[in-house]
Amino acid sequence: MQHETVEKNIGLMIVLSLIGISFGALVEIVPLFFAKQTTEPVEGLKPLTALQQEGKDIYIREGCNVCHTQMVRPLRAEVERYGHYSVAGEYVYDHPHLWGSKRTGPDLHRVGGKYSDEWHRAHLYNPRDVVPDSNMPAFPWLFENKLTGDDTGKKLAALRTLGVPYTDEQIDNARAEVRGKREIDAVVAYLQNLGTALKDKR
Ligand code: HEC
Repeated sequence: MQHETVEKNIGLMIVLSLIGISFGALVEIVPLFFAKQTTEPVEGLKPLTALQQEGKDIYIREGCNVCHTQMVRPLRAEVERYGHYSVAGEYVYDHPHLWGSKRTGPDLHRVGGKYSDEWHRAHLYNPRDVVPDSNMPAFPWLFENKLTGDDTGKKLAALRTLGVPYTDEQIDNARAEVRGKREIDAVVAYLQNLGTALKDKR
């Protein structure tokens, strides 16, 4: 086919460009589905407990992920500040992942175990009480709202369809595990677990 024919026929040019782009995209994306590195969980990775999963949902509801990323990049400044850079195998059970791209506050992917539960509670009740210059909002209602656990089992069951290895027992006990607990307890449980699967490699 003459190059000129393609250049002068816009319809043909669009079709051929689309084929070219689709092929390029497939070559980039498809191998990732099969690459072990992106689909194998890191050793010791556990699915979130029922309480931690509720904490994650509250984290999303409150928009914590709008100000905080959950991905430490493999750059010296980040690794020195936060700890080991994040690896793909840490996110295998994370649906949806909360990598984010906007950091108003620090990255939280390695925050698990960095502070005590008391610190987190004080900080979330009023950040200025522990970090005087903080411009993070306060979340006092987390201390009043209680979890019913009515949907928790269904959430875990839904995650299981995505490949998160929850047992029947975990799903059956989910409601009892969270019922009556305060939202703050769920959020702190979630934060304390973040990034801990790889913590010893700091
Ligand atoms: C408007 C932006 C904003 C939102 C929304 C926000 N934060 Fe923050 N966060 C910050 C800033 C800024 C800091 C740094 C100052 C400080 O420590 O308070 C911070 C700090 C933190 C820290 C301490 C991190 C460290 O390594 O020292 C934690 C933990 C945290 N936030 C959790 C949360 C959680 C959980 C939520 C949702 C309930 C949330 N944040 C919502 C801005 C935000």
